[in-house]
Amino acid sequence: MNSAALLEQARARDAADPLRGFRQRFALPVDERGAPLVYLCGHSLGLQPHAARELVIEELDEWAQRAVEGHEHARRPWVPYHENLSQGLARLTGASAAEVVAMNSLTVNLHLMFASFYHPAGRRRRVLIEAGAFSSDRHAVASQIAWHGLDPQDCLIELAPEAGADLVDERAIEACLAAHGSEIALVWWPGVQFRTGQAFDIARIARAAHAHGCLAGFDLAHSVGNTPLTLHDSAADFAVWCSYKYLNGGPGAIGGCFVHERHTGALPRTAHRGALPGARLAGWWGHEADTRFLMEAQFHAAVGADSWQVSNPPILAAAPLVASLGMFADAGMERLREKSLALTGFMEELLGPLEPRVRIITPRDARARGCQLSLRIAGGAAEGRRVFEALRAAGVVCDWRSPDIIRVAPVPLYNRFEDVARFAQHLERLLEEPA
Ligand SMILES: Cc1ncc(COP(=O)(O)O)c(C=O)c1O
Repeated sequence: MNSAALLEQARARDAADPLRGFRQRFALPVDERGAPLVYLCGHSLGLQPHAARELVIEELDEWAQRAVEGHEHARRPWVPYHENLSQGLARLTGASAAEVVAMNSLTVNLHLMFASFYHPAGRRRRVLIEAGAFSSDRHAVASQIAWHGLDPQDCLIELAPEAGADLVDERAIEACLAAHGSEIALVWWPGVQFRTGQAFDIARIARAAHAHGCLAGFDLAHSVGNTPLTLHDSAADFAVWCSYKYLNGGPGAIGGCFVHERHTGALPRTAHRGALPGARLAGWWGHEADTRFLMEAQFHAAVGADSWQVSNPPILAAAPLVASLGMFADAGMERLREKSLALTGFMEELLGPLEPRVRIITPRDARARGCQLSLRIAGGAAEGRRVFEALRAAGVVCDWRSPDIIRVAPVPLYNRFEDVARFAQHLERLLEEPA
């Protein structure tokens, strides 16, 4: 198809898109000369909702005008501010509002969750993770093992794809659990793999872990706001995520955490630590709210995931997320997923004729991916890097993951079919250029 016809087709699809209006609710990035960029990097940093600016300014004004009294009397009082996020996060993760809480950042939440759920005992001391896990997860998990006085070399099982493959089949996870389950305390797995874009079946992994007496926790950095989630029904024990990617919470935004209800209901409200899954490292914000300010020595846990809060929430880092979750509520995850499948499917279709110069390593089965496609360019890492840099010079923002992957993500809240068409046209042209 020639370029003009392709753009026309893409624009016709945009005109028929029931979610097209949401794009106008975002600040759209521009280059140094003010020309619009084709932004396909929401898997790294989501765009700024206009409402985020308004809500941050509103909180700055509250602070200016009310000072300390904002804790109780701001339009959205600061003491229970995290509650503004619970419903929206619960909807996106398939949990009850009591099972989720916005707090801290992803890796900090990982540590808090491991403090509660990683209790190596006897032969059951190992943690199963993926080989090539996100570096922060790898560092955090290894340090948790060492924190217990154990050796990460012995206690970390890193499951790699089969030789020559990029993806890990859930069957391989099941086989690993069948072989080593009695030694594994905890399975730590991503919902969507950051490098390949592969989406995993969380319920299946949790089921396999539980069948061998292990707990299952998940890193949902690349899942939340991207793929539909049913954390409660999938019986995941716990999960953590960040909010600056698909949730458009802004750089360093407040993260989130899920703890399945079965770990919170039965817990003695004064438990801190021990072999009990669910016992927590505590701070005053995890104390039940009604009596928190009595400042008593004894800790009485709040109900549910809220009890894992340690400190009072960062209001300015949470306000943009209030704005963004409002948009998710308006659009609805079902409609977003429907558009996401169409956008990513369109990209896949346009990249088809570019094979084998470009290879999509993300699963071709749409159920096993979110919106991200990960691409490898024929000719090796240096050629891949050349193409990536030339894309940026042409005004396309995507990103590069070592050693040789270009990641692109058309995000249904703000990307258009036209963005996908423009990206594919640039890529085709750049592949034809001499290296
Ligand atoms: C998969 C994954 N895990 C962990 C992190 C680390 O997040 P944070 O710096 O918020 O702890 C990231 C950040 O991009 C990520 O993509």
